[in-house]
Amino acid sequence: MNKDKLVIFDTTLRDGEQSPGASMTKDEKVRIAKMLEKMNVDVIEAGFAIASQGDFEAVKAVSAAVKDSTICSLARAVRPDIERAAEAIKGANSGRIHTFIATSPIHMKYKLQMSSDLVLEQAVNAVKMARNFTDDVEFSLEDASRSEFEFMCRIIEATINEGAGTINLPDTVGYGEPGEYGEMFSRLIAAVPNSDRAIFSTHCHNDLGLAVSNSLAAVLHGARQIECTINGLGERAGNASLEEVAMAVRTRQDLFPVKTGIDARHIVPTSRLVASVTGFPVQPNKAIVGANAFAHESGIHQDGILKHRETYEIMKAEDVGWNTNKLVLGKHSGRAAVKARFEDLGITFDGAVALNDVFVRFKALADKKHEIFDEDLQALMSDTQLETIEDIYKFQSMEVLTRTNEAPRARICIDIRREHLESQSEGDGPVDAIFKAIENLTESGADLQLYSVNAITQGTDSQGDVTVRLEREGKIVNGVGADTDILAASAKAYLHALNLLESHANKAHPQRDGV
Ligand code: KIV
Ligand code: ZN
Repeated sequence: MNKDKLVIFDTTLRDGEQSPGASMTKDEKVRIAKMLEKMNVDVIEAGFAIASQGDFEAVKAVSAAVKDSTICSLARAVRPDIERAAEAIKGANSGRIHTFIATSPIHMKYKLQMSSDLVLEQAVNAVKMARNFTDDVEFSLEDASRSEFEFMCRIIEATINEGAGTINLPDTVGYGEPGEYGEMFSRLIAAVPNSDRAIFSTHCHNDLGLAVSNSLAAVLHGARQIECTINGLGERAGNASLEEVAMAVRTRQDLFPVKTGIDARHIVPTSRLVASVTGFPVQPNKAIVGANAFAHESGIHQDGILKHRETYEIMKAEDVGWNTNKLVLGKHSGRAAVKARFEDLGITFDGAVALNDVFVRFKALADKKHEIFDEDLQALMSDTQLETIEDIYKFQSMEVLTRTNEAPRARICIDIRREHLESQSEGDGPVDAIFKAIENLTESGADLQLYSVNAITQGTDSQGDVTVRLEREGKIVNGVGADTDILAASAKAYLHALNLLESHANKAHPQRDGV
């Protein structure tokens, strides 16, 4: 075991996907996984294989597509989960099973309704079972930060004896505080007799905004794996953000006795890909990947930067992938150049994704917008609804009329199961009129929970990237749409969300649904 190596375990595709509405299709997961591989992420948790057929297929597809990172599937500490996880990662060059059970008194009593002795027995059996399928087994003590020390010592020692090579101590509910959470690691590592045979791992949630601090504190106290997500996506307030932990460790080498293998130049493109796929935009002041993260507004700062960059900058924007959105393509670019650029962004064309269709869309965009950046290509892909969702509702055309002091009117033409239909409506604003016209036709009954517009690149000819979050009977989806016309982008995003509502199969939640 290399004591200086900090393993980066990305769980964007599993815990990140547990953010309400952030579900991803198989192809989207593969695209993100390839970017993570490029970034040299050590372990990619691709999903929770038993949750649904879709999750199983996605873990399988990521296992087949990624060669350099270890691919992991989550599994509760029970046979059906472990067997399903094993099946899903079978094709991986290097595969891991991540099994877990809750160990805190509150979870054992109320959720599991099991004694601690039974929990320990189930954990040991689960690790033993998982080791029949792979040498790389991780065991998590769910809600570790609220678990009893003596019990954790017993269960950690026993699971390491069964062959768990990674012991993860999650702060499941985001309750930990850096001093206390960090110390939990050094105390456990000192107290468990066989602790030298495993890597200790952090997995922190951000309910108190401390996920990154807690993870880094754990590293200072002996943890050698951080579980994290791109953009800090994840259940509730999210997980520790990959870009923040990786850059903190790199920037403060005077403090951290470890190195990650992360190639930071891929951070910003990957962040954008995740934002566009999930429909969760990045706040402008977000560290590392927010639009303002390297923007110096005040005159004093600008003056300092011009005289000596390090006066106000601790990192270089280009080191994390800013400014790599160079002009890449235009209306005269050919099919081969377009294909090659997409491949650089981790998007390949085979079977399900037809290059022809994307190329036609590329040409249409290049006619409207002369400079095509990487972000435009990524948006084009999110807008090109891939294989997995059936296009029940398809945008055709629309007309919107707005006049000062008059209610806006929208007329929209869409295909519903290939039948061409048209409707009109007035609204409080043009977007409201469009959505009402769509509702006249679809009668979805969905509740609009969020509507947001972002410019994908700079300039007035930039594409608008719209996210529409809809909820119906407890199911939440995020539809995305991109177009140089933000009203068209809004209509597309709404229809995309409706398609997702129709098509998304229910899937089990690893920490809520019974075994
Ligand atoms: O937050 C948590 O405890 C988890 C485990 C399943 C690792 O996500
Ligand atoms: Zn979690």
